[in-house]
Amino acid sequence: MENSLEGRVALVIGASSGIGAAIARAFVEAGARVHATARRGELVTAAVSEEHVAAGRAVVHPLDLTDTAALEALAGELAATDPIDILVCAAGTNVTGRLFHELTGESWEEVRSLNLDSVFHLMRTTMPQLRAHGGDVVLIASVSAAWPDHSGPAYQASKAAVVALARGVSRDEHTNGVRVTSILPGIVDTPLLDRRPSPPPPEVRDWCLKPEDVAAAVLAAVSLPPRAHIPEMTIVATRLQSIGNTQAATPELPPTLGRPAAGARR
Ligand SMILES: NC(=O)c1ccc[n+]([C@@H]2O[C@H](COP(=O)([O-])OP(=O)(O)OC[C@H]3O[C@@H](n4cnc5c(N)ncnc54)[C@H](OP(=O)(O)O)[C@@H]3O)[C@@H](O)[C@H]2O)c1
Repeated sequence: MENSLEGRVALVIGASSGIGAAIARAFVEAGARVHATARRGELVTAAVSEEHVAAGRAVVHPLDLTDTAALEALAGELAATDPIDILVCAAGTNVTGRLFHELTGESWEEVRSLNLDSVFHLMRTTMPQLRAHGGDVVLIASVSAAWPDHSGPAYQASKAAVVALARGVSRDEHTNGVRVTSILPGIVDTPLLDRRPSPPPPEVRDWCLKPEDVAAAVLAAVSLPPRAHIPEMTIVATRLQSIGNTQAATPELPPTLGRPAAGARR
């Protein structure tokens, strides 16, 4: 079967919403057993489906990622009971007051601790399991790691650091068969957009990437034969963005843009 994850065990972080929820769902459907976490356990269960939880195909672990001791305990529990060979870090946040003059020590800390520190601790605590199985790490970064945009200096710094972290870990671990992949999405229609100072209107959201598109990219990366590794992948909303052209918080719809005609291929 194409993109099969049969026999693989994944830990998906941020599985209650948006991109992480779509990845957890896609992984279960591709045959992996998925350990899925976020603070809102009931939404994680809904994302992977109660049937898959009841069947043991998905296991829900409610967790606050800023609690490093709890995160270490989960890694230890998995090492002892069901070692993982895929780690996906898709939790993340931004603050509404995101311009430099609006940032405070508190908001800087909020963004950095979730977007960067938790990723470090997750990789640090699960790497022995991943190393043992020649596993995969997928980090959901952002195009804002690659060039300046409207997302604010704290978010951009955290995402650029995630990509740098991925490069460094990859350099140290690739000879152990571990693949570390950073995904750099442009605008994705998820609840994270509601934290923007001006959330984009529905007609723009319609043309954004959907969480399922990012999940498909992640699934493709981890399904490659172990000899092949995609270190970084950028994915943007075709009609709204292009490489380097993601600076508009709410991209304008091109004047020619209408609804796809019936029968259009996309
Ligand atoms: N949407 C975009 O346009 C976009 C673009 C590029 C990159 N990204 C990145 O993609 C990733 C996913 O974002 P999204 O758009 O899917 O956002 P989302 O729908 O808001 O999902 C964020 C996820 O992070 C989890 N989370 C937040 N704080 C947490 C905490 N303290 N402990 C545990 N989990 C926590 C949330 O779960 P709980 O609240 O249940 O804990 C939720 O599952 C983020 O890293 C984001 O920066 C998003």
